[in-house]
Amino acid sequence: MTAAHDSISLTYRSTAAQSLQGEARVPGDKSISHRAIMLGSLANGTTEVSGFLEGEDSLDTLRCFRAMGVEISDPQDGRVTIHGVGLHGLKDPKKPLYVGNSGTSMRLMAGILAGQSFDTVLEGDASLSLRPMERVIDPLAAMGARIESGPEGRPPLKIHGGQHLKAIDYAMPMASAQVKSCVLLAGLYAEGRTCVTEPAPTRDHTERMLMGLGVGVVHDGARVCLEQGDPQARRLTGRTLEIPADISSAAFLLVAASILPGSELVLTHVGLNPTRTGVIDILLAMGADIRIENRRTVGGEPVGELRVKSAALQGIEIDEALVPLAIDEFPVIFVAAACAKGRTVLTGAEELRVKESDRIAVMADGLQQLGIDATPTADGMIIEGRGEPQPFGSATIYAQGDHRIAMAFAVAGLKAHGEVTIHDCQFVETSFPGFAELFNRLGGSLELSRQ
Ligand code: S3P
Repeated sequence: MTAAHDSISLTYRSTAAQSLQGEARVPGDKSISHRAIMLGSLANGTTEVSGFLEGEDSLDTLRCFRAMGVEISDPQDGRVTIHGVGLHGLKDPKKPLYVGNSGTSMRLMAGILAGQSFDTVLEGDASLSLRPMERVIDPLAAMGARIESGPEGRPPLKIHGGQHLKAIDYAMPMASAQVKSCVLLAGLYAEGRTCVTEPAPTRDHTERMLMGLGVGVVHDGARVCLEQGDPQARRLTGRTLEIPADISSAAFLLVAASILPGSELVLTHVGLNPTRTGVIDILLAMGADIRIENRRTVGGEPVGELRVKSAALQGIEIDEALVPLAIDEFPVIFVAAACAKGRTVLTGAEELRVKESDRIAVMADGLQQLGIDATPTADGMIIEGRGEPQPFGSATIYAQGDHRIAMAFAVAGLKAHGEVTIHDCQFVETSFPGFAELFNRLGGSLELSRQ
Protein backbone atom coordinates (compact mmCIF):
# COMPACT_ATOMS: atom_id res chain seq x y z
CA MET A 1 0.00 0.00 0.00
CA THR A 2 1.39 3.41 -0.91
CA ALA A 3 -0.02 6.71 0.26
CA ALA A 4 -1.25 9.38 -2.13
CA HIS A 5 1.74 11.59 -1.41
CA ASP A 6 4.11 9.00 -2.92
CA SER A 7 2.65 9.39 -6.40
CA ILE A 8 1.30 12.91 -7.09
CA SER A 9 3.75 15.80 -7.20
CA LEU A 10 2.54 19.16 -5.92
CA THR A 11 4.30 22.49 -6.53
CA TYR A 12 3.72 25.76 -4.63
CA ARG A 13 4.50 29.17 -6.08
CA SER A 14 4.70 31.66 -3.23
CA THR A 15 4.90 35.43 -3.81
CA ALA A 16 4.73 38.58 -1.72
CA ALA A 17 1.49 39.45 0.05
CA GLN A 18 0.14 42.58 1.76
CA SER A 19 -0.56 41.34 5.28
CA LEU A 20 -2.18 38.40 7.06
CA GLN A 21 -5.43 38.92 8.95
CA GLY A 22 -8.04 36.75 10.61
CA GLU A 23 -8.68 33.86 12.93
CA ALA A 24 -7.95 30.19 12.38
CA ARG A 25 -7.81 26.84 14.11
CA VAL A 26 -4.97 24.82 12.58
CA PRO A 27 -5.36 21.00 12.40
CA GLY A 28 -4.98 18.72 15.39
CA ASP A 29 -1.69 17.91 17.09
CA LYS A 30 0.18 15.22 15.18
CA SER A 31 2.07 13.77 18.15
CA ILE A 32 -1.08 13.49 20.25
CA SER A 33 -3.13 12.09 17.33
CA HIS A 34 -0.68 9.19 16.87
CA ARG A 35 -0.77 8.42 20.58
CA ALA A 36 -4.59 8.59 20.68
CA ILE A 37 -4.83 5.84 18.04
CA MET A 38 -2.13 3.70 19.64
CA LEU A 39 -3.26 3.95 23.26
CA GLY A 40 -6.97 3.96 22.38
CA SER A 41 -6.37 0.70 20.51
CA LEU A 42 -4.57 -0.84 23.51
CA ALA A 43 -7.24 0.31 25.97
CA ASN A 44 -10.18 -1.70 27.21
CA GLY A 45 -13.40 -0.08 26.06
CA THR A 46 -14.18 2.74 23.68
CA THR A 47 -12.15 5.91 23.18
CA GLU A 48 -13.91 8.86 21.55
CA VAL A 49 -11.41 11.27 20.02
CA SER A 50 -12.06 14.82 18.83
CA GLY A 51 -9.61 17.19 17.18
CA PHE A 52 -7.82 14.26 15.48
CA LEU A 53 -5.35 15.24 12.74
CA GLU A 54 -6.68 13.87 9.45
CA GLY A 55 -3.20 14.05 7.93
CA GLU A 56 -1.37 11.24 6.18
CA ASP A 57 0.97 10.48 9.12
CA SER A 58 -1.72 9.90 11.73
CA LEU A 59 -3.94 8.19 9.14
CA ASP A 60 -1.07 5.76 8.48
CA THR A 61 -1.03 4.91 12.19
CA LEU A 62 -4.80 4.45 12.10
CA ARG A 63 -4.56 2.08 9.10
CA CYS A 64 -1.88 0.00 10.86
CA PHE A 65 -4.04 -0.55 13.95
CA ARG A 66 -7.02 -1.42 11.76
CA ALA A 67 -4.76 -3.97 10.04
CA MET A 68 -4.15 -5.46 13.50
CA GLY A 69 -7.86 -5.98 14.04
CA VAL A 70 -8.87 -2.79 15.87
CA GLU A 71 -12.21 -1.36 14.84
CA ILE A 72 -11.70 2.36 14.23
CA SER A 73 -14.30 4.62 12.61
CA ASP A 74 -13.48 6.77 9.57
CA PRO A 75 -12.40 10.17 10.92
CA GLN A 76 -15.02 12.85 10.34
CA ASP A 77 -14.35 16.49 11.23
CA GLY A 78 -11.67 15.26 13.63
CA ARG A 79 -13.95 12.76 15.37
CA VAL A 80 -12.81 9.14 15.59
CA THR A 81 -14.14 6.24 17.66
CA ILE A 82 -11.67 3.53 18.64
CA HIS A 83 -12.96 0.21 19.95
CA GLY A 84 -9.96 -0.76 22.08
CA VAL A 85 -8.93 -4.40 22.17
CA GLY A 86 -6.86 -4.29 25.37
CA LEU A 87 -3.08 -4.64 25.74
CA HIS A 88 -3.12 -8.24 24.55
CA GLY A 89 -5.86 -8.04 21.91
CA LEU A 90 -3.98 -7.00 18.73
CA LYS A 91 -4.05 -9.54 15.85
CA ASP A 92 -1.37 -10.60 13.37
CA PRO A 93 -1.71 -8.21 10.40
CA LYS A 94 -0.30 -10.97 8.09
CA LYS A 95 1.38 -8.34 5.87
CA PRO A 96 3.87 -5.49 6.36
CA LEU A 97 2.60 -2.42 8.21
CA TYR A 98 3.21 0.70 6.08
CA VAL A 99 3.79 3.93 8.03
CA GLY A 100 4.56 6.24 5.09
CA ASN A 101 6.63 9.31 6.05
CA SER A 102 6.07 8.97 9.78
CA GLY A 103 9.02 8.42 12.11
CA THR A 104 6.72 8.72 15.13
CA SER A 105 4.59 5.81 13.90
CA MET A 106 7.59 3.59 13.25
CA ARG A 107 9.44 4.31 16.49
CA LEU A 108 6.48 4.22 18.86
CA MET A 109 4.91 1.19 17.21
CA ALA A 110 8.24 -0.66 17.39
CA GLY A 111 7.88 -0.52 21.19
CA ILE A 112 4.32 -1.86 21.10
CA LEU A 113 5.06 -4.54 18.50
CA ALA A 114 8.10 -5.83 20.44
CA GLY A 115 5.61 -6.99 23.08
CA GLN A 116 3.25 -8.93 20.77
CA SER A 117 3.00 -12.68 20.26
CA PHE A 118 3.23 -12.39 16.42
CA ASP A 119 5.95 -11.19 14.01
CA THR A 120 5.53 -7.87 12.20
CA VAL A 121 7.32 -5.83 9.54
CA LEU A 122 7.31 -2.01 9.65
CA GLU A 123 8.11 -0.17 6.42
CA GLY A 124 8.00 3.43 5.24
CA ASP A 125 8.45 5.74 2.25
CA ALA A 126 11.76 6.82 0.68
CA SER A 127 12.40 9.60 3.27
CA LEU A 128 11.64 7.40 6.29
CA SER A 129 13.72 4.55 4.85
CA LEU A 130 16.82 6.74 5.28
CA ARG A 131 16.20 7.55 8.95
CA PRO A 132 18.09 5.92 11.86
CA MET A 133 16.27 3.26 13.87
CA GLU A 134 19.14 1.93 16.07
CA ARG A 135 18.03 4.50 18.61
CA VAL A 136 14.96 2.32 19.26
CA ILE A 137 16.42 -1.06 18.29
CA ASP A 138 19.19 -0.82 20.93
CA PRO A 139 17.02 -0.23 24.03
CA LEU A 140 14.39 -2.68 22.81
CA ALA A 141 17.09 -5.34 22.32
CA ALA A 142 18.27 -4.63 25.87
CA MET A 143 14.71 -5.44 26.99
CA GLY A 144 14.88 -8.79 25.17
CA ALA A 145 13.22 -7.84 21.86
CA ARG A 146 14.43 -9.39 18.58
CA ILE A 147 14.49 -6.88 15.74
CA GLU A 148 16.13 -7.04 12.31
CA SER A 149 16.65 -3.89 10.26
CA GLY A 150 17.89 -2.88 6.83
CA PRO A 151 21.55 -1.84 6.37
CA GLU A 152 22.91 0.59 9.00
CA GLY A 153 19.90 0.17 11.25
CA ARG A 154 17.48 1.69 8.74
CA PRO A 155 13.92 0.57 7.92
CA PRO A 156 12.31 -1.82 7.23
CA LEU A 157 12.16 -3.35 10.70
CA LYS A 158 11.26 -6.98 11.24
CA ILE A 159 10.06 -7.42 14.81
CA HIS A 160 9.89 -10.98 16.13
CA GLY A 161 6.97 -11.66 18.43
CA GLY A 162 6.77 -14.05 21.34
CA GLN A 163 9.75 -12.61 23.27
CA HIS A 164 9.76 -12.25 27.02
CA LEU A 165 10.47 -8.54 27.69
CA LYS A 166 12.21 -7.37 30.83
CA ALA A 167 12.16 -3.81 32.16
CA ILE A 168 15.23 -1.57 31.74
CA ASP A 169 16.36 1.65 33.36
CA TYR A 170 17.43 3.49 30.23
CA ALA A 171 19.65 6.59 30.05
CA MET A 172 18.78 8.01 26.64
CA PRO A 173 21.81 9.21 24.68
CA MET A 174 19.79 11.89 22.82
CA ALA A 175 16.80 14.05 23.79
CA SER A 176 14.10 12.16 21.88
CA ALA A 177 10.44 11.83 22.80
CA GLN A 178 10.07 9.09 20.22
CA VAL A 179 12.74 6.94 21.88
CA LYS A 180 11.39 7.67 25.38
CA SER A 181 7.86 6.77 24.25
CA CYS A 182 9.02 3.61 22.48
CA VAL A 183 10.71 2.31 25.63
CA LEU A 184 7.75 3.21 27.87
CA LEU A 185 5.30 1.52 25.49
CA ALA A 186 7.45 -1.64 25.39
CA GLY A 187 7.53 -1.33 29.18
CA LEU A 188 3.77 -1.99 29.23
CA TYR A 189 4.64 -5.53 28.16
CA ALA A 190 7.77 -5.96 30.29
CA GLU A 191 8.31 -7.63 33.59
CA GLY A 192 9.48 -5.10 36.20
CA ARG A 193 9.62 -1.32 36.34
CA THR A 194 10.64 0.42 33.11
CA CYS A 195 12.36 3.81 33.48
CA VAL A 196 13.84 6.33 31.05
CA THR A 197 16.12 9.24 31.90
CA GLU A 198 16.33 12.05 29.35
CA PRO A 199 19.32 14.36 28.86
CA ALA A 200 16.90 17.32 28.38
CA PRO A 201 13.11 17.57 28.66
CA THR A 202 11.19 16.38 25.58
CA ARG A 203 7.48 16.30 24.78
CA ASP A 204 5.58 14.30 27.38
CA HIS A 205 2.33 13.47 25.58
CA THR A 206 2.82 9.71 26.04
CA GLU A 207 3.20 10.04 29.79
CA ARG A 208 0.18 12.35 30.07
CA MET A 209 -2.05 10.09 27.97
CA LEU A 210 -0.95 6.92 29.78
CA MET A 211 -1.90 8.58 33.07
CA GLY A 212 -5.20 9.78 31.59
CA LEU A 213 -6.01 6.19 30.62
CA GLY A 214 -5.20 4.93 34.09
CA VAL A 215 -1.57 3.76 33.93
CA GLY A 216 0.69 4.84 36.78
CA VAL A 217 3.60 7.02 35.62
CA VAL A 218 6.05 8.42 38.14
CA HIS A 219 8.39 11.37 37.54
CA ASP A 220 11.59 11.86 39.46
CA GLY A 221 13.49 14.80 37.90
CA ALA A 222 14.67 13.77 34.45
CA ARG A 223 13.65 10.15 35.08
CA VAL A 224 10.20 8.81 34.27
CA CYS A 225 9.03 5.31 35.25
CA LEU A 226 5.99 3.15 34.67
CA GLU A 227 4.66 2.05 38.02
CA GLN A 228 5.64 -1.50 38.78
CA GLY A 229 3.06 -4.16 38.04
CA ASP A 230 2.44 -7.52 36.48
CA PRO A 231 2.32 -7.08 32.67
CA GLN A 232 -0.78 -9.30 32.58
CA ALA A 233 -2.54 -7.04 35.09
CA ARG A 234 -1.70 -3.68 33.47
CA ARG A 235 -4.75 -2.04 31.96
CA LEU A 236 -5.61 1.06 30.00
CA THR A 237 -9.21 2.25 30.12
CA GLY A 238 -10.84 3.96 27.13
CA ARG A 239 -12.19 7.50 27.57
CA THR A 240 -12.80 10.70 25.62
CA LEU A 241 -9.73 12.50 24.29
CA GLU A 242 -9.85 16.07 23.01
CA ILE A 243 -6.81 16.93 20.91
CA PRO A 244 -5.67 20.59 20.68
CA ALA A 245 -4.49 22.31 17.50
CA ASP A 246 -0.85 21.60 16.67
CA ILE A 247 1.58 24.31 17.82
CA SER A 248 4.03 22.96 15.22
CA SER A 249 1.53 23.89 12.48
CA ALA A 250 0.61 27.17 14.18
CA ALA A 251 4.34 28.06 14.08
CA PHE A 252 4.22 28.72 10.31
CA LEU A 253 1.49 31.30 10.83
CA LEU A 254 3.21 32.80 13.89
CA VAL A 255 6.29 33.49 11.80
CA ALA A 256 4.29 34.56 8.72
CA ALA A 257 2.35 37.18 10.70
CA SER A 258 5.46 38.29 12.62
CA ILE A 259 7.49 39.06 9.47
CA LEU A 260 4.74 40.64 7.36
CA PRO A 261 4.01 44.25 8.43
CA GLY A 262 0.42 45.09 9.31
CA SER A 263 -0.50 41.48 10.11
CA GLU A 264 -2.60 40.25 13.01
CA LEU A 265 -3.78 36.67 13.47
CA VAL A 266 -5.61 34.82 16.21
CA LEU A 267 -4.89 31.09 16.36
CA THR A 268 -7.42 29.25 18.47
CA HIS A 269 -7.26 26.17 20.68
CA VAL A 270 -3.49 25.75 20.28
CA GLY A 271 -1.76 23.12 22.43
CA LEU A 272 0.60 24.90 24.84
CA ASN A 273 2.25 21.98 26.58
CA PRO A 274 5.46 23.48 28.03
CA THR A 275 7.49 20.73 26.32
CA ARG A 276 6.33 22.19 22.97
CA THR A 277 6.36 25.97 23.37
CA GLY A 278 10.03 26.63 22.59
CA VAL A 279 9.04 28.32 19.34
CA ILE A 280 7.08 30.98 21.24
CA ASP A 281 10.01 31.60 23.60
CA ILE A 282 12.46 31.87 20.69
CA LEU A 283 10.23 34.26 18.71
CA LEU A 284 9.58 36.38 21.83
CA ALA A 285 13.34 36.58 22.43
CA MET A 286 13.62 37.87 18.83
CA GLY A 287 11.12 40.61 19.62
CA ALA A 288 7.90 39.02 18.31
CA ASP A 289 4.52 40.28 19.49
CA ILE A 290 2.73 37.10 20.58
CA ARG A 291 0.14 37.05 23.34
CA ILE A 292 -1.43 34.02 24.95
CA GLU A 293 -5.10 34.44 25.84
CA ASN A 294 -7.68 32.23 27.53
CA ARG A 295 -5.31 29.60 28.93
CA ARG A 296 -7.07 26.42 30.01
CA THR A 297 -6.51 22.67 30.29
CA VAL A 298 -8.28 20.36 27.87
CA GLY A 299 -7.95 16.58 27.98
CA GLY A 300 -4.90 16.82 30.25
CA GLU A 301 -3.08 19.25 27.94
CA PRO A 302 -2.68 23.07 28.33
CA VAL A 303 -4.41 25.03 25.54
CA GLY A 304 -4.90 28.71 24.67
CA GLU A 305 -5.42 31.30 21.95
CA LEU A 306 -2.39 32.92 20.34
CA ARG A 307 -2.67 36.50 19.12
CA VAL A 308 0.27 37.48 16.93
CA LYS A 309 1.01 40.87 15.38
CA SER A 310 3.87 41.80 13.08
CA ALA A 311 7.02 43.09 14.79
CA ALA A 312 10.59 44.07 13.98
CA LEU A 313 12.62 40.93 14.77
CA GLN A 314 16.22 40.87 16.02
CA GLY A 315 18.79 38.13 15.56
CA ILE A 316 19.63 36.15 18.72
CA GLU A 317 21.78 33.32 20.04
CA ILE A 318 19.23 30.58 20.58
CA ASP A 319 19.33 29.05 24.07
CA GLU A 320 20.29 25.36 23.66
CA ALA A 321 17.80 24.42 26.40
CA LEU A 322 15.02 25.48 24.00
CA VAL A 323 16.17 23.20 21.17
CA PRO A 324 14.22 20.01 22.10
CA LEU A 325 11.20 22.20 22.94
CA ALA A 326 11.15 23.67 19.42
CA ILE A 327 12.72 20.79 17.52
CA ASP A 328 10.17 20.69 14.67
CA GLU A 329 9.93 24.45 14.26
CA PHE A 330 13.47 25.29 13.13
CA PRO A 331 12.77 25.38 9.38
CA VAL A 332 10.41 28.31 9.87
CA ILE A 333 12.49 29.82 12.72
CA PHE A 334 15.35 30.02 10.17
CA VAL A 335 13.04 32.02 7.89
CA ALA A 336 12.26 34.37 10.79
CA ALA A 337 16.00 34.71 11.46
CA ALA A 338 16.68 35.61 7.82
CA CYS A 339 14.12 38.44 8.09
CA ALA A 340 15.40 39.65 11.47
CA LYS A 341 18.05 42.33 11.90
CA GLY A 342 21.43 40.89 12.81
CA ARG A 343 22.94 37.48 13.37
CA THR A 344 21.11 34.41 14.68
CA VAL A 345 23.15 31.46 15.90
CA LEU A 346 21.74 27.99 16.54
CA THR A 347 23.86 25.30 18.22
CA GLY A 348 23.10 21.95 19.88
CA ALA A 349 20.61 20.95 17.20
CA GLU A 350 22.35 18.04 15.42
CA GLU A 351 19.05 16.09 15.62
CA LEU A 352 17.82 18.34 12.78
CA ARG A 353 20.07 16.36 10.44
CA VAL A 354 17.97 13.19 10.88
CA LYS A 355 14.44 14.54 10.53
CA GLU A 356 12.23 14.02 7.44
CA SER A 357 15.22 15.57 5.63
CA ASP A 358 18.57 16.97 6.77
CA ARG A 359 16.92 20.22 7.83
CA ILE A 360 20.23 22.04 8.40
CA ALA A 361 21.52 21.28 4.91
CA VAL A 362 18.24 21.71 3.03
CA MET A 363 17.29 24.98 4.77
CA ALA A 364 20.78 26.51 4.45
CA ASP A 365 20.85 25.62 0.77
CA GLY A 366 17.41 27.12 0.10
CA LEU A 367 18.12 30.29 2.09
CA GLN A 368 21.40 30.76 0.20
CA GLN A 369 19.53 30.40 -3.09
CA LEU A 370 17.21 33.14 -1.87
CA GLY A 371 20.22 35.40 -1.28
CA ILE A 372 20.71 34.95 2.47
CA ASP A 373 24.09 34.51 4.15
CA ALA A 374 23.29 31.21 5.94
CA THR A 375 26.15 28.98 7.10
CA PRO A 376 25.34 25.41 8.09
CA THR A 377 27.34 23.95 10.98
CA ALA A 378 27.50 20.39 12.30
CA ASP A 379 24.85 21.12 14.93
CA GLY A 380 23.03 24.23 13.76
CA MET A 381 23.26 27.31 11.59
CA ILE A 382 24.48 30.91 11.53
CA ILE A 383 22.17 33.29 9.70
CA GLU A 384 22.95 36.92 8.94
CA GLY A 385 19.48 38.44 9.08
CA ARG A 386 18.82 41.15 6.52
CA GLY A 387 16.21 43.12 8.47
CA GLU A 388 14.88 44.43 5.14
CA PRO A 389 11.31 44.65 3.87
CA GLN A 390 12.00 42.03 1.18
CA PRO A 391 15.11 40.04 2.12
CA PHE A 392 14.51 37.17 -0.30
CA GLY A 393 15.08 36.98 -4.06
CA SER A 394 13.64 34.08 -6.01
CA ALA A 395 14.53 30.39 -6.07
CA THR A 396 13.41 26.90 -6.96
CA ILE A 397 13.46 24.63 -3.92
CA TYR A 398 12.98 20.87 -3.62
CA ALA A 399 11.35 20.03 -0.29
CA GLN A 400 13.07 16.59 -0.20
CA GLY A 401 10.05 14.70 1.10
CA ASP A 402 9.81 17.08 4.07
CA HIS A 403 6.50 18.85 4.83
CA ARG A 404 8.05 21.46 7.10
CA ILE A 405 10.66 22.52 4.50
CA ALA A 406 7.82 23.06 2.01
CA MET A 407 5.78 25.21 4.42
CA ALA A 408 8.81 27.18 5.67
CA PHE A 409 9.67 28.30 2.12
CA ALA A 410 6.02 29.08 1.42
CA VAL A 411 6.27 31.53 4.34
CA ALA A 412 9.54 32.95 2.94
CA GLY A 413 7.68 33.74 -0.31
CA LEU A 414 5.68 36.40 1.60
CA LYS A 415 8.82 38.54 1.69
CA ALA A 416 10.37 37.73 -1.71
CA HIS A 417 11.13 40.12 -4.60
CA GLY A 418 10.46 37.31 -7.00
CA GLU A 419 8.79 33.92 -6.80
CA VAL A 420 9.68 31.05 -4.49
CA THR A 421 8.87 27.84 -6.34
CA ILE A 422 8.71 24.78 -4.09
CA HIS A 423 8.49 21.28 -5.52
CA ASP A 424 7.53 18.18 -3.52
CA CYS A 425 4.80 19.90 -1.50
CA GLN A 426 2.47 16.86 -1.49
CA PHE A 427 4.14 15.93 1.80
CA VAL A 428 2.42 18.88 3.50
CA GLU A 429 -0.57 16.51 3.71
CA THR A 430 1.30 14.47 6.34
CA SER A 431 0.83 17.14 9.04
CA PHE A 432 -1.15 20.14 7.76
CA PRO A 433 -3.97 19.22 5.39
CA GLY A 434 -5.49 22.40 3.95
CA PHE A 435 -2.34 24.50 4.60
CA ALA A 436 -2.37 26.30 1.23
CA GLU A 437 -6.09 27.08 1.38
CA LEU A 438 -5.78 28.45 4.93
CA PHE A 439 -2.64 30.45 4.08
CA ASN A 440 -4.46 32.07 1.15
CA ARG A 441 -7.63 32.68 3.15
CA LEU A 442 -5.57 34.64 5.71
CA GLY A 443 -3.99 36.75 2.96
CA GLY A 444 -1.07 34.69 1.61
CA SER A 445 -0.39 34.24 -2.08
CA LEU A 446 0.27 30.59 -2.90
CA GLU A 447 -0.46 29.07 -6.30
CA LEU A 448 -0.67 25.30 -6.57
CA SER A 449 -0.01 23.02 -9.52
CA ARG A 450 -0.04 19.23 -9.66
CA GLN A 451 1.86 16.95 -12.04
C1 S3P B 1 7.84 13.44 18.07
C2 S3P B 1 9.09 13.65 18.59
C3 S3P B 1 10.15 14.42 17.90
C4 S3P B 1 9.58 15.25 16.76
C5 S3P B 1 8.60 14.48 15.94
C6 S3P B 1 7.43 14.00 16.77
C7 S3P B 1 6.85 12.65 18.84
O1 S3P B 1 11.09 13.52 17.36
O2 S3P B 1 10.61 15.74 15.95
O3 S3P B 1 8.09 15.29 14.88
O4 S3P B 1 5.65 12.68 18.50
O5 S3P B 1 7.26 11.99 19.81
P1 S3P B 1 12.36 13.00 18.21
O6 S3P B 1 11.86 12.17 19.31
O7 S3P B 1 13.19 12.23 17.22
O8 S3P B 1 13.07 14.24 18.67
